[in-house]
This record gives sequence, structure tokens and C-alpha cells, in this order.
Amino acid sequence: MATTTSILHERIDFLTLYKKEMNQTEEWLKKRLEEAQHPDFILTTDELTYGARVAWRNSNKCIGRLFWNSLNVFDERQLLNEAEIYEALLNHIDFATNNGKIRPAITLFEPDRVRIWNHQLIRYAGYDMADGIVGDSDSLEFTKICESLGWRGARTHYDVLPLVIQVDDREPIFFDIPKERVLEVAITHPEYDFSRLNMKWYAVPIISSMRFNIAGTDFPAAPFNGWYMGTEIGARNLADTYRYNFLPKVAEAMGLDTTMNASLWKDRALVELNVAVLHSYKKAGVSIVDHHTAAQQFQLFQVQENKSNRNVTGNWVWLVPPLSPATTDLYHERIANTIKKPNYFYQQQPY
Ligand code: ARG
Repeated sequence: MATTTSILHERIDFLTLYKKEMNQTEEWLKKRLEEAQHPDFILTTDELTYGARVAWRNSNKCIGRLFWNSLNVFDERQLLNEAEIYEALLNHIDFATNNGKIRPAITLFEPDRVRIWNHQLIRYAGYDMADGIVGDSDSLEFTKICESLGWRGARTHYDVLPLVIQVDDREPIFFDIPKERVLEVAITHPEYDFSRLNMKWYAVPIISSMRFNIAGTDFPAAPFNGWYMGTEIGARNLADTYRYNFLPKVAEAMGLDTTMNASLWKDRALVELNVAVLHSYKKAGVSIVDHHTAAQQFQLFQVQENKSNRNVTGNWVWLVPPLSPATTDLYHERIANTIKKPNYFYQQQPY
């Protein structure tokens, strides 16, 4: 494939950024820019490592960017066999989970030949059954795909989906994740009895559906993780009416009057569900951050970036937490949603 001028420009931009931020010499840059003229130019592991960290730093929707420079990067571009890629994904899960002391990580696979079909490496299946949805409605379509490939779920509310891996134009292959590699947290409340609701969630969110874009190259298979902010689980996954829809049951367990909106039963249930999520992860020794602390950490990130003479960009709609948004400084700020590269972008689903 010929190197188009736009790809060449992106290579130049990245190498120039790398030189500046990693204190490389002029000679180094000159040599790399010459190499960048060739169609078969590839980035080194060190360049990719730094680039993946900067891509996190540039992720406008992410409130957790203070820790961008501590991202662990695994370069697995040499793997072109489904079973080996599966092993690398299990290694990512183990490394990231770390018995609950979650470590941010990304694994990079060969850019043109490997594709992971999952939205997250660990995610619950969803089934459209005669008497309603069982499991996670967010997974309905992908669950069907898995079953069409020959997988069969147990049809509980929390069936962990298999990993679906595709190399080249071959049929994708599914692999079950051994139960013992998936850390989960049962959700209990320090005062109320929520045990009848049987709520739980998994420990590590590992996004696998986004492409890592760097120096004019897309890495469609680049699963990455941080740790959860409590509201992602307590104010969205378990609370949204179109997801697990637990607020009416939480309100019932709390003995709230749900007959009128003005009792604010939804708000009260929402707060206690979020208390339960933070309490349960903490008790289980699984890393999690509350939204107040995360917002403070984001402020620190902004200060740190400004000191480095960089402007922080952000997507306000995503940064502001869904619970008590106006109690965070973020809510009262303006932030420009300008896109910088390298970055992580959405991409078309492979199915
Ligand atoms: N919001 C997504 C979920 O609830 C996870 C997105 C990534 N979150 C993170 N803390 N790194 O599963």
C-alpha cells in the first residue's frame, strides 16, 4: 500500500511529539522521519507504549486520565493464531485483575489481521425471552452472534460471554473464559438488606471494541482497562431502566413509597445503590473510585497538564458524573471537546 500524504503527516506528527516528550535527539528524529517515508514503516514497542499512554491522556470522555502515564502496555503484534490470542487476552485479564488491586493495561494486536468481536472482554450475556429480558440488554445482539457460533449460555442474569476472536477472513472462534479468572463482586449494603436482589458486577471493565489510532495506523484489536468509577455500575449498569433496572427493587428493599415521583424514591434508591456498590468493592478489596474523588483527580490532571504546557480537552457530557453532577467542580466548568491524536475511537462492529 502506498503511503498517502495524510498518513505521512500523521507519522511525522507522532514522531515529533515522541521526540519532544521523550527527549529524543535531532538525529533520532531525522532517522525516524526518513524511515517514515517507507510504506512498511512500523512503530517500535517503545513508541507504541508511549503512544497508548498519550491516547489515554487525549480521551475526552475519560475522567480518570490523571493516571495516563502508568498504563501498562503489552505488545502482542506477533500473535496471529486464535488460541494464542486467547491466551494473551487471559493474561491481560489476570494482569489487570491482580487479585483486586486493578492495574490499567492495554494489549496491542496485529493491526491488519486481528479482530476481537466483544465490546468488553468480560461482559454479561442478554437474552430476549418470552417473559422479558434476562441478563444485560446491552449484549442482546452479541449474545445471539455467540450462540450462532455454537456457544450456549446458561440464561442466568450474569452469564459471562465467551471471547470471540477473528484472524484474517477466517470464521471467528469463541473461547470460554474460565470462571476462576473472572473476579466478581456481590453487591451488599452496609445497612439495608439487598441480598434478595442478588446483584453483582465484574471487577474490571476492559473495553475491546475501540480502535487505537496512532501515527496514521488503526489498531482495531487493542483491549484496554482502568478500574471502575462507582457510578458506572450503580447509576447506569444496574440502574438504567433499559439495563438491569434495579431501582424499583432497591426502593422496595428500603421500604420507600414508590407511588409518587415527589417522594424522590428513585433518587434515594439511586444513592443507596451507589453506596452499596462502593461499599461492596471496597469490602472485596477491588479497586474502585467514587465520583467525587474521581472529579478531584481530574482537576489534578488539569493542573498537571497545564504545568506541562498542554491544554486539557474533554467531553463535558461524559465527564460529568450521572449522580449529583453539580456537586463536582467539573459541572461548573467549560471544556473544549477538541480531538487530539493518538486516541481511541469508535469503529464499526465486525458483525
Ligand atoms: N461504562 C462502562 C461499563 O460500565 C465501562 C467504560 C470504561 N470504564 C472505566 N472505568 N475504565 O462497563
